Amino acid sequence: MEKFIRCLPKVELHLHIEGSLEPELMFELAERNGISTPYSSVDEARSAYHFHNLQSFLDIYYQGANVLITERDFFDLTWAYMLRCKADNVMHTEIFFDPQTHTDRGIAFDTAINGIYHALRQGEKELGITSQLIMCFLRHLSEDAAFETLEKAKPHLNRLVGVGLDSSELGHPPEKFQRVFAEARALGLKTVAHAGEEGPPSNIRDAINLLHVSRIDHGVKCSEDPELAKELAISRMPLTVCPLSNIKLRVFDKMADHNILNLLNQGLCVTVNSDDPAFFGGYMTDNFIALNNALSPSPQQLAQFTRNAIEASFVSEERKKEMM
Ligand code: HPA
Ligand code: ZN
Repeated sequence: MEKFIRCLPKVELHLHIEGSLEPELMFELAERNGISTPYSSVDEARSAYHFHNLQSFLDIYYQGANVLITERDFFDLTWAYMLRCKADNVMHTEIFFDPQTHTDRGIAFDTAINGIYHALRQGEKELGITSQLIMCFLRHLSEDAAFETLEKAKPHLNRLVGVGLDSSELGHPPEKFQRVFAEARALGLKTVAHAGEEGPPSNIRDAINLLHVSRIDHGVKCSEDPELAKELAISRMPLTVCPLSNIKLRVFDKMADHNILNLLNQGLCVTVNSDDPAFFGGYMTDNFIALNNALSPSPQQLAQFTRNAIEASFVSEERKKEMM
C-alpha cells in the first residue's frame, strides 16, 4: 500500500509556505543573514516542536519566519517545497503565505511575494507542477491591518487566486473579517478560511454565510453538528483536512480517532493536506501513510481524496480534466 500511496498523484490545497521551513534551511538563512535563532542546533529546533494546541505552535512558527529577509530567501523556501512536491508526486498545489508575518518585521510585501511567485513559476517550467497562491490575513490582528494588507496586494492581483484567514481561531471569528473579504471578492479574488480546526462548527457556518468561502480549511469540527455535516455533503463544500497537523495540535488524541474517513463516507468533499510539514512531521505522502496506518482506507478511498482535491482546486476545467 505504501508503494500505491507514493505513486498516487496528489493535489495539495492547504500548505503554509512558512510552515515548510525546515530547521536546516532556517539555520542556513540565519547564517546568510547574520541573524541568531533561539536554537543551538537542528536537533534542538526539532525537539522544540512539541505543541499542546494551535497557539503553542503559532508562537514557534512565527519566530521561525524571522530568518526570511530577502527575495532569495523566499525563493529558496518555496523552491525546497516544490522539490518535495515532485518527490511526493504532487501535480498541483495551492499555497498560503502570511504577508503580515513579514511586513510587521519591516520586510516589504513585494519581497515576499516576488520570491515565492518566481519559485512557483520555475516549478511549473522545470517540474511540471502547477500552482496558485493565496494570501492569508492573520485573524489575531485587526480588520484595519487586513485592509492595509489587501491594499498592498493590489499591484499583484494577477499573482493571487484568493485570500484566506489563518492564525488563532478562538476569539477571532469570521465576522471580524466580513468587510475585508467582501472587498477581496469585489476585486475578483476567491475566498477560503480556516474554520472548525479548534473553533466551533458555527465558525464553519459563518465562514460560508458571511465570508462566502469556496473551501473550508480544516473544518473537522463539523462532525459536532450533524446537520451541518449533512449540508456540507450536499453542497460539496470542500474541507482541506490536515491529518498530521490535527494530531500534533491535539485536535484528535490519535490518528485512529481522526474523523476524515467518516466524513468521506458521509459524502463530504474532504481532501488530505500537510498544513505546516516542517513542524508537523511530514509532507503529503507522510500524511497519506499516517492515515493509512491508522484507518486502513481502501485504495479507492485514497484515490477519492485526490479526486476531491481536483474538484476543489481553483484551476481551469481543462487542467482539472488533465489531472483526473
Ligand atoms: N491554523 C491556523 N493558522 C495557521 C495554521 C493552522 O493550522 N498553520 C499556520 N497558520
Ligand atoms: Zn493551516
